[in-house]
Amino acid sequence: MRGAVPDMDKVIEICEKYNVTIIEDCAHALGVKWRGTQMGHFGQSMVTSFQSHKMVDAGEGGMLATNNIDVYLKAAFLSGCYEANIRKHIIDHPEKEEKIKDCLNKIPPYNLRMSNLSAGLLFRQFGIVEKKAERHRKLYKMIWDGLDKDRISFPQVNEHTTPCLDSMQFGMYKYSIEERRAYQKDMNSQGVPINVIGLAAENARVFFNWKFIDPEMRKLEDFPNTHRLIEGMVDVRIPYSLTEEETLDLCKRMNDGLDRLDAARAAKN
Ligand SMILES: Cc1ncc(COP(=O)(O)O)c(C=O)c1O
Repeated sequence: MRGAVPDMDKVIEICEKYNVTIIEDCAHALGVKWRGTQMGHFGQSMVTSFQSHKMVDAGEGGMLATNNIDVYLKAAFLSGCYEANIRKHIIDHPEKEEKIKDCLNKIPPYNLRMSNLSAGLLFRQFGIVEKKAERHRKLYKMIWDGLDKDRISFPQVNEHTTPCLDSMQFGMYKYSIEERRAYQKDMNSQGVPINVIGLAAENARVFFNWKFIDPEMRKLEDFPNTHRLIEGMVDVRIPYSLTEEETLDLCKRMNDGLDRLDAARAAKN
């Protein structure tokens, strides 16, 4: 999530050991690398998102990339290939004709095709991913340098990861839930849209908010560490368009907010 990368060497080792197929969710990982290789190249397939908060942005939609011909054909047919439409896709595979026959009229076409307009918007942006990534790295470093790390903590980035963080997460574990709530309110009132991930009942990233899974599977006591981690984790987007001046101002507002929290705590004690 949010461009954070696990230790891919370990992930690959475990998946090979237990014969698990790797599908990489690269929604926030364009521009992010592991040992110098763009994320998305380590599994059988990868998916990424092109909606409006993403590195490459067409307003909506996404993409699947795969090495596997069966996955490729299934996705193409599902996305809306019927009759001879599959011929519009370039497929270089020795068994392609038989495989296409196997899919025809056996997979429902959901008409999720990308429009030419979206594809045109995206095509141009792929060429500037690295340039944008460099800018994000610079802004992230400015914020990281500018925030007071004695009071808040940052997740470690593995030395083999080249990050490209268009958002920042940090932990407020030295503060109580009430203090985190007060900080969020204070920052939001100043136009700094921070979000303590575990505090909002509607946050879609939090497993305990997922009403679509069995309540037994999202019992907080079964995941105490994850619960603790999420409950104190703050999420803040770092827009590409932020100027350096605005970035410094952002740090100042966030540090000043921490000062106010500490002053309120001192006044109470
Ligand atoms: C890790 C991750 N996966 C998937 C998605 C969903 O992408 P989309 O909105 O294009 O469905 C997001 C959205 O932010 C995401 O962060």
